[in-house]
Amino acid sequence: MDFKNLIAHCKEYGFIFQSSEIYDGLSAVYDYGPYGVELKNNIKNYWWKSMVQMHENIVGIDAAIFMHPKTWKASGHVDAFNDPLVDNKDSKKRYRADQLIEGYAEKIEAKNIKDIEKAKARFGDAFDEAQFRATNDRIIERQKQIDESMVRLAKAMTAGDMDDLKAMIDEYEIVCPESGSRNWTEVRQFNLMFNTQLGNIAGEEGKLYLRPETAQGIFVNFLNVQKSTRQKIPFGIAQIGKAFRNEIVARQFIFRMREFEQMEMQFFIRPGTQDEWYQYWKEARLKWHKAIGTSGDKLRFHDHAALAHYAKAAVDIEFEFPFGFKELEGIHSRGDFDLTQHQELSGKKLQYFDPELNENYVPFVVETSIGCDRMFLAMVANALVEENVPDADGQDSVRTVMKLHPALAPVKVAVLPLLKNKEELTTAATAIYDKLKLSFNCQYDEKDAIGRRYRRQDAIGTPYCVTIDFETLENGTVTIRDRDTLIQERIKIEDIRSFVQDKVALENLLA
Ligand code: GAP
Repeated sequence: MDFKNLIAHCKEYGFIFQSSEIYDGLSAVYDYGPYGVELKNNIKNYWWKSMVQMHENIVGIDAAIFMHPKTWKASGHVDAFNDPLVDNKDSKKRYRADQLIEGYAEKIEAKNIKDIEKAKARFGDAFDEAQFRATNDRIIERQKQIDESMVRLAKAMTAGDMDDLKAMIDEYEIVCPESGSRNWTEVRQFNLMFNTQLGNIAGEEGKLYLRPETAQGIFVNFLNVQKSTRQKIPFGIAQIGKAFRNEIVARQFIFRMREFEQMEMQFFIRPGTQDEWYQYWKEARLKWHKAIGTSGDKLRFHDHAALAHYAKAAVDIEFEFPFGFKELEGIHSRGDFDLTQHQELSGKKLQYFDPELNENYVPFVVETSIGCDRMFLAMVANALVEENVPDADGQDSVRTVMKLHPALAPVKVAVLPLLKNKEELTTAATAIYDKLKLSFNCQYDEKDAIGRRYRRQDAIGTPYCVTIDFETLENGTVTIRDRDTLIQERIKIEDIRSFVQDKVALENLLA
């Protein structure tokens, strides 16, 4: 399904609403509706159980959003958590300079793809794309331009060289997508942290930040957690919580938001073992994504060319969103950067005594960090399809169905009396619903023809629909319809619970 229709579907079926919509919305801030919150909770639960419940050596915390302001000085966010900002003087629109330059490279690559498609059509099965890319002069020349611009961009970003970013925008003749003009301001650093003020302290002293990542709540609690749980290195601390970033360009629905949720895990290790743990978490996290049925073709690793201020090595797990492959999760080797910084600014030791080595050291950290909202978008983009299926009369009809993994689906089972105005049916259906709701998030629906009710459940991804008909009254059986195969089986009322439980259990994923 295309991206515009996906956004409309999320609104129409109560997954996601624009924040404060009656006031024309607040840009890049969203509210989760009744089905959205269920899906999001299921994603969080899957992550939490995979991390905390499935690892003896990973424990969870829930730190506050507000932290002592020195935290952000120590973490480097006050000085280095910046994006390069440039304004177009004609349209008055703001852009991230690095994204404009990436857009320039993407446009060149689009030309290459066009030429490749043409050649493919001409040569048919005999076409070898790798050979074409390696030998076609125009493609080689364009690839050179892409590579040169990307290397130069990475260099300028790492060095914080705003002048060179501006020079690139000028040299590459990049125009404002809105006004079409090249009338740009200088490029300058823009800090992404939101701030507010403590009530009882005036001025800079009382300045508080809304956390831009959850990780720092974990670092400052490192010793509290280690001592209170008597964990031995290697061990991890996991957390799910809100983070806030004053993004310059916040587009693409819930992909880039100003208020979002992160699921982060910091894994504390012996210095010197970072490469092996980095590799371990890269693979473990990719496996986690594939377990819910996301195909390997839709996921890929992307090594960072420009590293964040805290990172020694970093890789993204990218997902193929409707607008292309983009970062879904990051795995970062952070060394001892954060703990050492906090030690220095707080004056408190953040060391671990390693009984095997008989020595104290500041542990190294490998972190896994995924945006819950991005994961939500990836899940919906992956699951939402339109397909032709036979309707009640056997005619072809189009249905919109969200083929979420049953363990993640917001509603697990819908209970539907065949007819609304037959009390025997509605009474029997209500009794079944009242029992099932003790085990699952269920829905009772008696409004409209049964076919329409099935379609409504398909649209929100309900894996099973139980229909109560006249045979139910005779022999205590119901039909249970599978969302994906459309096969309807007859089963006994007393077997519904275990039938559904078997398919929707989170254990299926965790195992
Ligand atoms: N603690 C490391 C850290 O925060 P990051 O790469 O800046 O690393 C981690 O962010 C993840 O958080 C990203 O992979 C993405 O899924 C999510 N994320 C970051 N900024 C976001 C935003 N503005 N909106 C939604 N999700 C975001």
